[in-house]
Amino acid sequence: MKRLGILLSGRGSNFLAIASSVAAGELPAEIAIVISNRGEARGISAARERGLLAAVVPSRGREREEHESEVVSLLQQRQVDLVCLAGYMRLLSPQFVRAFPHRILNIHPSLLPAFPGLEAQRQALDYGARVTGCTVHFVDEHLDHGPIILQQAVPVLESDDLAALSSRILEQEHIAYPEAIRRVLGGGWTIEGRRVVFQR
Ligand code: GRF
Repeated sequence: MKRLGILLSGRGSNFLAIASSVAAGELPAEIAIVISNRGEARGISAARERGLLAAVVPSRGREREEHESEVVSLLQQRQVDLVCLAGYMRLLSPQFVRAFPHRILNIHPSLLPAFPGLEAQRQALDYGARVTGCTVHFVDEHLDHGPIILQQAVPVLESDDLAALSSRILEQEHIAYPEAIRRVLGGGWTIEGRRVVFQR
């Protein structure tokens, strides 16, 4: 059984979607640890309610290196095969990324490379995009940047406000993230340049 490590900073709805997928037997994996840099993250209490191992590694007021090495050693102790960023509001250093080569995933609420960074849904709305969506990608040391595993488009409706658009994107995120993890764990893929090529 493959072991997942989840990193989050807030609400944790993507983590819960992954956890439900695992519980339903749709993902051949187990959640080995959930880590947050914020103690008050709703995702951490949700993990504990589900009986999962949850750790808080505070980032505020600490050197990045010190914080990250604690997170990396927890993930290594728990022998995770894949690290899933799920609303983790920190950029990973090159050292962190190198500790898990092609084994860190992130989900972003836009069709990258459009609208990276914060408030991607608002960026799409303000820009007047007709289509946006979500992207699951491998993580490299640049923000919202690594090779793309899966994308799902979501139309922007005339009637959309930020809340309506964000919630339709979020619905798709909850489908896309477990699916992307399933594909990555299934193996049979290579990375050629920026392209993730699935042989099966
Ligand atoms: C999601 O929109 C995700 O795409 C972005 O951060 C948000 C996290 O939401 N990276 P949640 O904590 O999973 O509910």
